[in-house]
Amino acid sequence: MKAETYPKIKIEKTTNSKINELDFNNLPFGKYNSDHMFVSDYKDGKWQNPRVIPFQNISLDPSAKIFHYGQSVFEGMKAYKDENGKILLFRPLENQKRINISSKRLAIPEFPETFFMEGLKALLKLDSDWIPTKDGSSLYIRPFVFATGNGFHASPSNEYKFIIACSPSGAYFGGKVKVLIEQKYSRSANGGVGYAKAGGNYAGQFYPTNLAIEKGYQQVIWTDDTTHEYIEEAGAMNIFMRIGDTLITAPTSERILDGITRKSIIEIAKDEGINVEVRRITVSELVEAAENGTLKEMFGAGTAAVISPIAGFGFKDTDYDLPELEETFAARLKKRITDIQYNRAEDKFGWRMEVK
Ligand code: PLP
Ligand code: COI
Repeated sequence: MKAETYPKIKIEKTTNSKINELDFNNLPFGKYNSDHMFVSDYKDGKWQNPRVIPFQNISLDPSAKIFHYGQSVFEGMKAYKDENGKILLFRPLENQKRINISSKRLAIPEFPETFFMEGLKALLKLDSDWIPTKDGSSLYIRPFVFATGNGFHASPSNEYKFIIACSPSGAYFGGKVKVLIEQKYSRSANGGVGYAKAGGNYAGQFYPTNLAIEKGYQQVIWTDDTTHEYIEEAGAMNIFMRIGDTLITAPTSERILDGITRKSIIEIAKDEGINVEVRRITVSELVEAAENGTLKEMFGAGTAAVISPIAGFGFKDTDYDLPELEETFAARLKKRITDIQYNRAEDKFGWRMEVK
């Protein structure tokens, strides 16, 4: 969208900070919120009334379209603090772009680009003490947009809210995860909304994921909806597989989220001299590699989970364990990307953005 002049952001500070209620050395993922949130409303055909206000409940009419027709999209980002107290974001303009790609698909009006960063910066400046400094922790940032207009008519809302809320968070997963390759359910389909970060994409995953959990797995590996032959994503992460010394990941498509971690990992791996193949990969190829010992690693990649190693996978009643390696691509790539994110290493790609 074209740059627009943003109305001045109103700031209302909390008089009741909750910051002392938290143990910053022992944070779960996404459970607690910082003191403030950024809000802007879409009304009368434009985004307006930008404000940073104390984190609080929202009151909506029961006929608000979000409840009935699921017009809702979101983003996931993190703010980091380095040892000198600098506040850093990782490729935030990618999230700013992607929320509008998602919004467009859900017939939600795009949020003007400059507004996104201005709102986020105003919020982070106010809640900078909420950015944890413990290794592996960060301030998880959740921008989201949803339909607030009323009425049961199945048509797009004429009113929306854009909100950014933050959650000081530790690791998303406790350790390695065991995954099940899905053969019945699909996360997305051609022509659908798989490439968008739409709330409904996640709702649709919960039931099949619960079935996998009942069988002893933590996550589902999504395959293509037509043949269930091609490996696509891992829950709320993109997926990487190492066969021999080649790192393989599926190409993005209208069914797959174009992950920012995924594309950063591809670049870092190439920079490390690792042979990277972005290509379609079948379940049969994966099973064969597991059987002949060439499958060395699998891991998921995403903002929340960073890089999450996979311990093994289940496919049609058989479990395949992955080897325990001393030196993994997952650990090497995780170190490279987190060193950039936390300002512990040179950022040759220009991905860090300081919030001043
Ligand atoms: N795939 C899905 C379905 C996701 O929800 C996410 C999480 O955001 C990702 C992949 C990873 O994307 P990113 O690295 O941009 O966080
Ligand atoms: C993220 O990685 O930021 C995500 O959005 C995943 C989320 C569903 C927890």
